[in-house]
Amino acid sequence: ADNGLARTPPMGWLDWERFRCNTDCVNDPDNCISENLIKTMADLMASEGYKDAGYEYVCIDDCWPSHERGPDGRLVPDPERFPSGMKALADYVHSKGLKLGIYEDFGTETCAKYPGSEFYLQTDAQTFADWGIDLLKFDTCNSYSSDFQYGFPAMAFYLNQTGRPILFSCEWPHGESESNFTAIRQACNMWRTGLDIEDSWDSVVGVIDFYAKDAQNFSSFSGPGGWADPDEVIVGDFGLSYEEERAHFGMWAMFASPLLMSVDLRNIRNSSKALLQNRNILAINQDPLGHQATLKMELANGYVYVFTRTLVDNKIAVAVLNKAFNGMPTSVTMTGKDLGLTDESGYTITDGFTGDQIGSYGPTSEIIQNVNPSGIVIFVATPK
Ligand code: GLA
Repeated sequence: ADNGLARTPPMGWLDWERFRCNTDCVNDPDNCISENLIKTMADLMASEGYKDAGYEYVCIDDCWPSHERGPDGRLVPDPERFPSGMKALADYVHSKGLKLGIYEDFGTETCAKYPGSEFYLQTDAQTFADWGIDLLKFDTCNSYSSDFQYGFPAMAFYLNQTGRPILFSCEWPHGESESNFTAIRQACNMWRTGLDIEDSWDSVVGVIDFYAKDAQNFSSFSGPGGWADPDEVIVGDFGLSYEEERAHFGMWAMFASPLLMSVDLRNIRNSSKALLQNRNILAINQDPLGHQATLKMELANGYVYVFTRTLVDNKIAVAVLNKAFNGMPTSVTMTGKDLGLTDESGYTITDGFTGDQIGSYGPTSEIIQNVNPSGIVIFVATPK
């Protein structure tokens, strides 16, 4: 969308994958969807280096409101779990130098059966603006996909009309077989490309396979102002090994994806925290050109994907991903030309994670990389 927001992929935290629809604050007060959880995560984003690394939006997903709208038709946050109200929560998050995101649904009900925005688009947009909300995730449950093309642009219009800059995160085109990405990009600052991410390597590979296919050339629609969204970052949760976390996070960086962590920042492993704050990988993700990586080669019987993307100053980022679940590190051989390193003067090569200089390649160089099972190698080629 052309609202001045999301000039680089949005970064932040979103409660859904890790905390889901836990509303039981009586038995599980530390993990239920509540103002306490959001304030705690905002505190940690500010105090533990995430904010300094660029993470900005603290986002509430489904299950925050009361089941009934108020007498004025407005949404009401659950009074037990959000006793101070959303305006106070937004003020708190803003006082930390962060922004607050919220969730609604275009249909009659949200996916978890809370009141939807159908028939209330304008009212809800105004309510969110009045509360000081900075991002709206808008879902598609309990609606007709044939209506998305009208509903999402209408909500974008009402959000703009409030005069408050509100980043619009859409689940459109979720559920469509063919999509009008031009219209989606016009309305939305980010748009979900596929199924909900789950806490597993299978789920991550499913997303990467989808990006490798690049149906309808959807990669070409990502760029400053609007981004394809492969769903949350699950680094630091339960399902991934260290190699898998690097591969997952490295690929989200290559795809110029929004980086919304869904993890408990109170007890995250140091290695996961360091990965989420890796400045070299974040620089690839936040590169101002905003090009989404595309598949360049498939090697090792399809187990190894090679993705490339162009960065500013004619730099090229290359990711070599080994999807194999077990076995040994796989050695793959490529030439500079295979990867688009065509400049005859050659390239200086640095490691995408450490920034260490690895060497020098030209178009005819033979490039040999060892890639761990469910692991990744990323390097950046800078023309000499
Ligand atoms: C859908 C969305 C998820 C999440 C849930 C909430 O499944 O795709 O990202 O918002 O609804 O109920």
